Amino acid sequence: MSRTKLIAANWKMYKTPAEAKAFTDSFLPLVAGHTRDEIALFPSVTSLATVVEAVAGSRVIAGLQNMHFAEEGAYTGETSAAMLIAVGATHTLIGHSERRQYFAETDEIVNKKLHTALKHHIVPVVCIGEHLHEREGGHTKAVLCTQLRGAFAGITAEAAAPVVIAYEPVWAIGTGKTATAAMAVEAHQVIRAEVADLLGAETAAAMRILYGGSVKPENACELLCQTEIDGALVGGASLKPESFAAIVHY
Ligand code: PGA
Repeated sequence: MSRTKLIAANWKMYKTPAEAKAFTDSFLPLVAGHTRDEIALFPSVTSLATVVEAVAGSRVIAGLQNMHFAEEGAYTGETSAAMLIAVGATHTLIGHSERRQYFAETDEIVNKKLHTALKHHIVPVVCIGEHLHEREGGHTKAVLCTQLRGAFAGITAEAAAPVVIAYEPVWAIGTGKTATAAMAVEAHQVIRAEVADLLGAETAAAMRILYGGSVKPENACELLCQTEIDGALVGGASLKPESFAAIVHY
């Protein structure tokens, strides 16, 4: 089963629209003609329209970092699926560990968001991963399986086909500590086996599982050259065009 890798930039709360445009002006020429992998940018809400416009005509994808599960309503500060689509974006992150940690997102909320994204044909990148104390306590597998079961509750194999999973060990995010390729591969195998259990072997074999957590040009190949690792979700090292392009060209 060959899976096209997805290399995605999570800009978090960085970059104004002008800064986002400056990034795409430099970045797009660096990846022009790169057809081996999919490339995605996840800017902040206020830069999304700028990025969508800037990447039009290229193969680069634009998505949102977070989306609400409700169709619309009194949810101050939130963005709906229809709003994301209206701007021309196609993808969304769901359940990033910073959303779980600072905004109290639970597996139940992740599940609701996943239902909404799939209903609207938005490609969801569902983020899961264990904390350091969970890894040290030997609970990584249990944590990942609980997060997956929660995320996919009530979702059929057919509906789940577009889903991308991002395995991001929380202890590796923004810390400079990267999981070794062996650790990442082991976690990805646990995830794929659990997805097979939940949704069947065929869906699991086709599902892309990205690694995230301190990916940078220096370690991109070690991770991305593994067949089990179907791409990367990159935070800090995606903020500079040269550095993100170097990861894309791992
Ligand atoms: P990082 O962030 O690359 O800065 O560790 C990854 C992420 O949070 O998606």
